Parts: sequence; structure tokens; C-alpha cells
Amino acid sequence: MAVAFKEYLRGLEPYTPAPSIEAIKRKYGLPGVVKLAGNENNHGPSPRIAEALIDAQRELSCYPDMSVGLLGEAIADRHGVRVEEIAFGNGSFSLISLIAQIFLAPGDEAIIPSPSFNWYRVASMSAGAAPASVPLKQDKIDLDGILRRITPKTKVIWICNPNNPTGGLIESGELADFLKKTPDGVLVVLDEAYIDYVTEGSAPRSPELIRKHPNIIALRTFSKVYSLASMRVGYALASEENARMMRRVQQPPAVSTYAQMAALAAFSDLDHYRYVVSENKRGREQYYSGLASLSCAYVPTQANFILFDTGLDSDETKEKYARGGVLLRAGSEFGYPTRLRVTIGRPEENQLVLEMLKGFMRK
Ligand SMILES: Cc1ncc(COP(=O)(O)O)c(C=O)c1O
Repeated sequence: MAVAFKEYLRGLEPYTPAPSIEAIKRKYGLPGVVKLAGNENNHGPSPRIAEALIDAQRELSCYPDMSVGLLGEAIADRHGVRVEEIAFGNGSFSLISLIAQIFLAPGDEAIIPSPSFNWYRVASMSAGAAPASVPLKQDKIDLDGILRRITPKTKVIWICNPNNPTGGLIESGELADFLKKTPDGVLVVLDEAYIDYVTEGSAPRSPELIRKHPNIIALRTFSKVYSLASMRVGYALASEENARMMRRVQQPPAVSTYAQMAALAAFSDLDHYRYVVSENKRGREQYYSGLASLSCAYVPTQANFILFDTGLDSDETKEKYARGGVLLRAGSEFGYPTRLRVTIGRPEENQLVLEMLKGFMRK
């Protein structure tokens, strides 16, 4: 007889990542693929990381600095927080799981806007908690709906800002109002994977918020604006008490030497950071005008991806794109049968997506 799993894991649905470039090349016999399905940053990382990686080679035989000291100091300095208020992880995926492990148990509920980043659901359920979905309202996270959904069992609220897959921003005033009404005993996780891309509206200042509200943990990542997704570096900004518990529970070492050194080099290159943010803004505008000329509705975005409606079946359109060597996400995954989510890439990549769409819509 097989050893039984924990009973509450039985209903766990797997997380579906975007397929790899290699898998699609092989499946369709393509020489190359443009990947715009994972909200990565196709502008590439800072050129400064090349030297950092050479330096890191000298330390291959040693365990990494478990305290992530140099990177921690640089982040603390930029955000105006103490290093004790930071916990690092092997990307935000691992921090989300760690938070679920620390704060959630069977019998608890975790509120998750829907659709949003699907790992919140997997992580909450893996810890035995019941996910409570709150649908978006006009493509925005419904903060009032979340407040209404809070029960004595609610322990964690997952908020992705800007939200993946819709791209909208919860502005600082709206968030402040929401936090005022949220009970102190409920943890609010602000996943700010895309916050660096915000160029309009007032983005909440999470480094200040964690001081005002000890029940907030903000998550940041080096996978998006810094273009280091394969390195796996993310960090949490939290109260000292919460950050300490995260470090205590976490599997060491959280971040490899390569990742620490690459992240530090990328973090120090503000010119490259600004270049990526401004290129992304240009890319957004390219989509706005291209989609408008095709009469496709889109959700205005403050992130590095855009959700738009083609009126065509999203799975079929995604498949057509894949055959043509472009990888993007079908809206059906998020409950939108005629929408697509595409990562904003380099100008020629954005142009290709729009040109191909024109062809699909003509037929
Ligand atoms: C909202 C959100 N949070 C976290 C992640 C994962 O980030 P990381 O690469 O730091 O694990 C993603 C990845 O797409 C994401 O969209």
C-alpha cells in the first residue's frame, strides 16, 4: 500500500509554467522562438553582470554568504530600511511558499484575487489553507470585495500589484484605505514583482508601509526589471519579526553566490534600470496604438505585459503564434477565452506580434 499524502494535498492543481524555448523549437521544428509568455525582460540584464560572474567563479567551491550581506546592504540603503527588515529567497516563488508555510495551516483561509498569479493558490493549498477567490472587478483587484470576504479564518491576503495578468495598479491612496480597514491579525502580502515598471499613477511605497503596518510583507524580484530570472533572486521587505522568522524557517543557503553577485551588479546599474523602464513604456505605447488600429480592446497596463482581446479563440490563436515561433499566453488560462497576455518585448518583437495578429484577424 502506498504511503498516504497529507489529505489536504489531494485537490492541489499543478502550476503551469510557460513552456521553454527549447520545447517549442522541438515541437514545431523551429530554428528560433521569441518567448513572450513568462513576463521576462527581453532587453537583457545590465552589462555589468559579466564581470560579477567572472568574480563569482573564484568562489565556486565555497558556500554562498548565507546572510546575503552585500546585496542586503545595497537594498537596505536604496529603500531606506534596515537589513533586519529584509529576507532573501530563491526568487519570489520560494518566498511565497515560505510565507504560506509560516502563516497558514489547515483550517485557515487565504484570500486570492482572481485571476492573479497562480502560485498563491498552490502555496496556500500546500500549507493546508483553503483558497478564497475574489473575482476582479472591471479588470481591477476588488479591494472592497476582499474586505467583505474576510472571515475569522482569514490569515493571508495575496495582492499582486500591478496584477498579473491584467497589469493594473492599485495606487497608494486606495491601498492605504484598504490597509486601514484590514484587521491587524491578517497578513497582507504585496507581491511587487512588476512595481519597477510603473510610470503612471502613484505606486505604493512599500518600504514605508512595512513600518506603519507590521502585518504587511512586500515581495520584490530580480527576475523582471533586472532581467535575471534564471538567477533566482527575490526579497521580502517585512517587519523585523517577520523577516527574522522567514530567515529562520528558510532552507539555507537562500541565494547562490552567482545570483548574489549578479544581482548586486544589476542593482547598482541605475542607467540600465532606467533604460529598461523607458523601453517598456515605449513598448506599451506600441501595443496601445497597434491594438487600437486592429480594433482590439486592451487593459491599460503598468507592467511589462499587456492583456488584450482579439475576439478569436485564445487557445487557437496561441497555437498559431507558437507555430510562427512566438510564445505568449492564452487568456483561457485565466478565464478569458478570447484574450491573450503578451510580455512587452523589444520593439521588433512587439511589431512581430502585431503583424501576426493582423494576419490572423484578416482570415
Ligand atoms: C506576480 C509574480 N510574482 C512572482 C513571480 C515569480 O518571480 P520569481 O522569478 O522571483 O520567483 C512571478 C513570475 O512571473 C509573478 O508574475
